[in-house]
Amino acid sequence: GLPRRVAWAQNIWESPVFIPIESIGDGARKLSAIQRNWHLHSEEHHRRAALIQEKLPHVSEKPLRFGDPAPTAPLGSWTLWEPGLILASARCSSPFPDGEVRFHENKIDPPSRAYLKLWETFTLLPKRPGPGDLCLDLGSAPGGWTWVLASLGAQVFSIDKAHLAPQVEAMPGVTHCIGSGFALDPRHAGAVDWLFSDMICYPDRLYEVITRWIALGSCRNFVCTLKFQAETDHITAAKFAAIPGSRVMHLSCNKHELTWVRLEATPDQLS
Ligand SMILES: C[S@@+](CC[C@H](N)C(=O)[O-])C[C@H]1O[C@@H](n2cnc3c(N)ncnc32)[C@H](O)[C@@H]1O
Repeated sequence: GLPRRVAWAQNIWESPVFIPIESIGDGARKLSAIQRNWHLHSEEHHRRAALIQEKLPHVSEKPLRFGDPAPTAPLGSWTLWEPGLILASARCSSPFPDGEVRFHENKIDPPSRAYLKLWETFTLLPKRPGPGDLCLDLGSAPGGWTWVLASLGAQVFSIDKAHLAPQVEAMPGVTHCIGSGFALDPRHAGAVDWLFSDMICYPDRLYEVITRWIALGSCRNFVCTLKFQAETDHITAAKFAAIPGSRVMHLSCNKHELTWVRLEATPDQLS
């Protein structure tokens, strides 16, 4: 059938073909004849596969600095299926090797590594908050996401049962409220540009909250983590994926969780 988005797959090989090869040099020649950039996803025959990869043009896999765009050059993936048989896909759903987005990390300012989830989300998607945007950050402590949003110049209203790290709470534009994200009634909150949730909660509970916001039409963009316990709640994940205009992804730094995103279409996307 036609390719489908599969939330848990970080990279989908969209045009896989088997390529018989006679030698290491022959393998490298045949891959290079298809396109320049290839990533080896090695599963077996590692040494022979590495020798083929060494003969291919160098592909930079340097970590990104946040704000850099995702690569635009196509990156194919290949593996050595048998010593004389390559499995390769010139088209892949992610421009990153195996769908892994790596950053030069900031080990000083953010109080948790959760900020990497937002860096990745904003690198993969065409939109991010900026000055003049009002963001709600539910389940914000210790403040990695709030730090990202305030660093982008947005106003952040953050809610958690716990305190933010003091250096984040002191950032311009940040207001923190101790309480439950479930206690906030969208009817009383007013219009917001972005709603973020990284709250530890059952996904079906989050779904109830989100559908109330959507029904009211008072929030333009959503980025929420769906956190699973031992069992994955596939039914609720499918309900999130079915919300029109939304997307469910497994980010490089998501563990047993998914990221659900719904962005208001920009005028050029509507035309
Ligand atoms: C994974 S941490 C969030 C990390 C945060 N996004 C960051 O970047 O630092 C989950 C947070 O959810 C909060 N939390 C759990 N239930 C909550 C609720 N009902 N309302 C608000 N916060 C909640 C916890 O206190 C915890 O701080």
